Amino acid sequence: MCNEKNGAFTIITIDGPAGAGKSTVAKKVANILGYEYLDTGALYRAIALYLIGRKIPPVESEEMREALSNVEIFFDNERIYLGDRDVSAEIRTVEIETTVSAYAKLGAVRRKLLEIQRKIGTLGNIVADGRDMGTVVFPNAVLKIYLVAELKERAKRRWKDLRANGRDLSLAEVEAQLKKRDEEDTKRENCPLRVPDGAFVIDSTGFSADQIAEKVVGLAEKLLRTEERTNES
Ligand code: DC
Repeated sequence: MCNEKNGAFTIITIDGPAGAGKSTVAKKVANILGYEYLDTGALYRAIALYLIGRKIPPVESEEMREALSNVEIFFDNERIYLGDRDVSAEIRTVEIETTVSAYAKLGAVRRKLLEIQRKIGTLGNIVADGRDMGTVVFPNAVLKIYLVAELKERAKRRWKDLRANGRDLSLAEVEAQLKKRDEEDTKRENCPLRVPDGAFVIDSTGFSADQIAEKVVGLAEKLLRTEERTNES
């Protein structure tokens, strides 16, 4: 399942560990290029919320497969919906934050989301961020980025975001949570987090999101120009 290929649409992928700044950078890049932003972490969170709501535990089962075959999940105007319910706020709760990895590691969940993500990908002109965008979902993306940052800096950024959203966790707690998530995401059997073949590895430590976005846009423009020239000749 982890080696399937997609067609060649204009897609930029940004993978990397939690808190590396993927979503902020991806949004900025999408904005500058006039592309759509695909937040695949939000899809995993929404699926976890959906299954928890049905009291289905994070273990593969017939009940889970059946529930997944009926899930309706989509984005509209940067909001995410389960059926007609806007779950954009609910997917950011502590409960989802701490349980999503357990669901994200299951083959049944990943297969379902692979199908959904590739369908969205066919629209083209997309900046997709996640953990397996360049390795599994869009291996033929025109540009693949693997964004990293030192754990301490990632924890500080996450902590600031959480505080801005009224959540009162200590910096040490946030750092421990990130470390645990890194381990779960890199060590899982199904499509673990790793650097995609041909990806540009960018360390965002000490740089602003604008600086990183500029760098990504520069790379994208260069690669797209090269592609155009190749197609012309
Ligand atoms: O980026 P995030 O924190 O919103 O991601 C939520 C969870 O989903 C996280 O545990 C990793 C997982 N995830 C994944 O396994 N593959 C993706 N493409 C995106 C997210």
